[in-house]
Amino acid sequence: MDKKELYQETIKQVKGLLEGETDLIANLANVSAVLKEKFDFWWVGFYLVHEDELVLGPFQGPVACTRIGFGKGVCGKVFQTLKPEVVKNVEEFPGHIACSSESKSEIVIPLMKYGELVGVLDVDSDKLDDFDDTDVEYLTELVSLLA
Ligand code: SME
Repeated sequence: MDKKELYQETIKQVKGLLEGETDLIANLANVSAVLKEKFDFWWVGFYLVHEDELVLGPFQGPVACTRIGFGKGVCGKVFQTLKPEVVKNVEEFPGHIACSSESKSEIVIPLMKYGELVGVLDVDSDKLDDFDDTDVEYLTELVSLLA
């Protein structure tokens, strides 16, 4: 199965999981688990907007930093720009926040609700250059299901 097919299957599964459940935290927790299980990413999780910071939400993977400031690191940049960010090599991203030395590449997708940023989906890989436009497309679709 190629990456697109895997995403299509994942999106179908997530639609089923979200059906009938309106609690955001419960849904973020299950989406993190599905992504981790299907793609075996190093770290998958959400940071949620609390005033002027992002605070760690449901995730799967090793322990992570709990608070990220506006404009700080990859997540904080997405907090500022509201646009997806793909980092092919985290060592080349100025200000990258290293929660784990195993993390080599990263993708961050904004989670919008009623036109406002609620949080971000952050996915880390232990492989360099693991994310591309296909990941942006499908993870954006997946995250839109949570809104
Ligand atoms: N690397 C992120 C911080 C979060 S961890 O990867 C889980 C960043 O630079 O925003």
